[in-house]
Amino acid sequence: MATFIKFFVTLSILVSLLACSTNAQLISNFYGKTCPSLQTIVRNEMIKAIRNEARIGASILRLFFHDCFVNGCDASVLLDDTGTFVGEKNAGPNKNSARGFEVIDTIKTKVEAACKSKVSCADILALATRDGIALLGGPSWTVPLGRRDARTASQSAANSQIPGPSSDLATLTKMFKDKGLTLNDLTVLSGAHTIGQTECQFFRTRIYNETNIDTNFATLRKRNCPTSSGDTNLAPLDSVTPTKFDNNYYNDLIAKKGLLHSDQVLFNGVGSQVSLVKTYSTNGNAFARDFAAAMVKLSKISPLTGTKGEIRKNCRFIN
Ligand code: HEM
Ligand SMILES: *[C@@H]1O[C@H](CO)[C@@H](O)[C@H](O)[C@H]1NC(C)=O
Repeated sequence: MATFIKFFVTLSILVSLLACSTNAQLISNFYGKTCPSLQTIVRNEMIKAIRNEARIGASILRLFFHDCFVNGCDASVLLDDTGTFVGEKNAGPNKNSARGFEVIDTIKTKVEAACKSKVSCADILALATRDGIALLGGPSWTVPLGRRDARTASQSAANSQIPGPSSDLATLTKMFKDKGLTLNDLTVLSGAHTIGQTECQFFRTRIYNETNIDTNFATLRKRNCPTSSGDTNLAPLDSVTPTKFDNNYYNDLIAKKGLLHSDQVLFNGVGSQVSLVKTYSTNGNAFARDFAAAMVKLSKISPLTGTKGEIRKNCRFIN
C-alpha cells in the first residue's frame, strides 16, 4: 500500500514538474544571478540613445508591439533577411518604417560583454521599451523576464496580424482579441501614439477625404503631405507633444485631430472606448497606470520559455 501511494505521489510530482517546464512563467528576477547588471546596462544605453534622438523611444516601442503581435514576444522582428531566411523586416507594416534595430544591437553587445549568452534579445527589447517610455516622461513598471528568442519568423503573419492605419474599429478589436487583448487594451495601447512620427502615405486619405477631422488640422498636415508625392514625409502622431509620453493623444482624438484613421475610430461613434478616451484625456494618471498594466499584458503574449527557442548571440541572426 505504501509503495502504491509513493508511486502516485512521485507521479503527481513529475506531472506538475512537467507542467511547470512547459508553462514556465516569466519572472522579474530571472537574471538576478546570471546577469545582475542587465537592467543598468539597458537603461544607460537608452539614456544615450534618447539623448541622441528622442524619437528612438517611440521607434523601439513600435518594434516591441510588432514583435509581440507576430507569434509572441520572441524577437522575431529583429531577424534580418538572408539568402536562405525570410524575416519580418520586409513585411508591409515594417518595411521602410520599423527602426531602432541599431540601438538594440548596441545594447546586446554591451549585455553580451557583461553576461555571455545569458540574456535573450526578446527580454532586451522588452526592457528597452519600458525604459524608453519612462525616459520620455511615461510610466515605468516591472518587466516579467525569461523570454527566449525564436529560431523562426513569419513574414506572412506580420502582414496579416499587425493592424494597418486604415483599419476600422471592428477590425482593430478583432485583431487585438486574437492576441488576447480587449477593447480597453486597444484603447489604452493606442495611446502609444502619444509619441513618434508617421509617414504621409499612411494619413493622406484621412486628411484629404475624411469628414471627422478638424479643418485647420487637416490644412496644416496637407502642407507637408501633398496629394500625390511626399509619401515618406513625416508628421507627429501627437499634434502637441510628440516626444513626451503624456495623455495628449486623447485630447487630439476628442478634437478630431487623430492623425491615423485607426486612431480617430476610437472616438467616432458609440462604445465603451469613447468614455475611456474621455477618461484618459482628463486623467493622465489613469492613462499611465492602465498603459503600464496593458504593456505587461502585451509583453506576455506567447513567450518562448524553458528550453524552447534559444538565447541568440546576435539579435539579427539565429545561432
Ligand atoms: C491599433 C492599431 C495600430 C495601428 C493601425 C498602428 C499603425 C501605426 C502606423 C501606420 C505608424 C507609422 C509608421 C510609419 O509611418 O513609419 C505607427 C507608428 C507608431 N506606433 Fe502604431 N499602430 C497601432 C497600434 C500601436 C500600438 C499598440 C503601439 C504600442 C504599444 C504602437 C506604437 C507606435 C509608435 C510608438 C509609433 C511611432 C514610431 C516611430 O516614430 O518610429 N502602435 N503606428
Ligand atoms: C479621395 O476620394 C476620391 C474619390 O473616392 C479618390 O479618387 C481619391 O483618390 C481620394 N484621395 C485620397 C488622397 O485618398
